[in-house]
Amino acid sequence: MVASPKHFLDISRAAAEELHRILQAAHEMKAARSGRPQGFIEPDRPLENRILAMIFEKPSTRTRVSFDVAMRQMGGQSMLLSGNDLQLGRGETVADTARVLSRFVDAIMIRTFEQSKLTELAEFATVPVINGLTDATHPCQVMADVMTLQEKKGDLSNLTVAWSGDSNNVTNSWMHAAGCFGFDLRIASPEPLQPASEILDWCKQNNANVTVTEDPQAAVAGADCVVADVWLSIHEEGQGTKHNLLKPYQVNSALMAVAKPDAVFMHCLPAHRGEEVTADVIDGPQSVVFDEAENRLHVQKAILAWCLSGIL
Ligand code: CP
Repeated sequence: MVASPKHFLDISRAAAEELHRILQAAHEMKAARSGRPQGFIEPDRPLENRILAMIFEKPSTRTRVSFDVAMRQMGGQSMLLSGNDLQLGRGETVADTARVLSRFVDAIMIRTFEQSKLTELAEFATVPVINGLTDATHPCQVMADVMTLQEKKGDLSNLTVAWSGDSNNVTNSWMHAAGCFGFDLRIASPEPLQPASEILDWCKQNNANVTVTEDPQAAVAGADCVVADVWLSIHEEGQGTKHNLLKPYQVNSALMAVAKPDAVFMHCLPAHRGEEVTADVIDGPQSVVFDEAENRLHVQKAILAWCLSGIL
């Protein structure tokens, strides 16, 4: 009997001990590369002869480059497939796309719109599928964020993370992470933009310590980490009416001042300075946004190794 592929679809769909192993491997991989040029291929070439197909139905800088470099550093290769260039963009089914790509490549990473497209791809693929962002979640990003939090703060269990702004796909993955890693998460969003009841139910069922408020000061008070994201997600460009609702949720020096003095500021990037965060915060000493961006590479190498090589 052929074993089922090891997909990485969401933080909520992996066992906590597996997620801890992935993070441990990511820290070790990062340490092992210290001082090496980016093009240095790891001597044991854990993904030699492996090919990753990367499907992008939305724009990307970090996800696209970090997955490509991850494959190269591990001795493998990747291919970039734009949604518009695939027959998928002209009506070929997700199921047929999954079956065909599985005959050519060893894993598929997809950035798409509906979560159902991701899960359908995983259902019909016979190779691992990795979620590179959907409208619902962004698990690779939040795994990199959790890795960064571990680097800066150590043990996560006594930490408080505060989110200020729209509740979006990244917030949803932070909620999953709170359930799996045991930190407290406070979300400040205007009432119409608060998390959906389904994910709040998931939090209750999984003992995730997540609180939701309309008051950004209350959410950030005493927090160890403050997180912001763009006010308009990729699929929402042009819907500027959210801006007025979100103005009170801007992370600026006054809001950072109510967090712990050694609190870090996180943002998954790209950022809009002067909207969700002021330049003095994102470019200031508490910001760790470029460590977060770099850690996409290390954590995704560990995810690829977990999915593909059997070394994790
Ligand atoms: N944070 C993130 O996913 O960046 P990209 O959209 O550039 O991939």
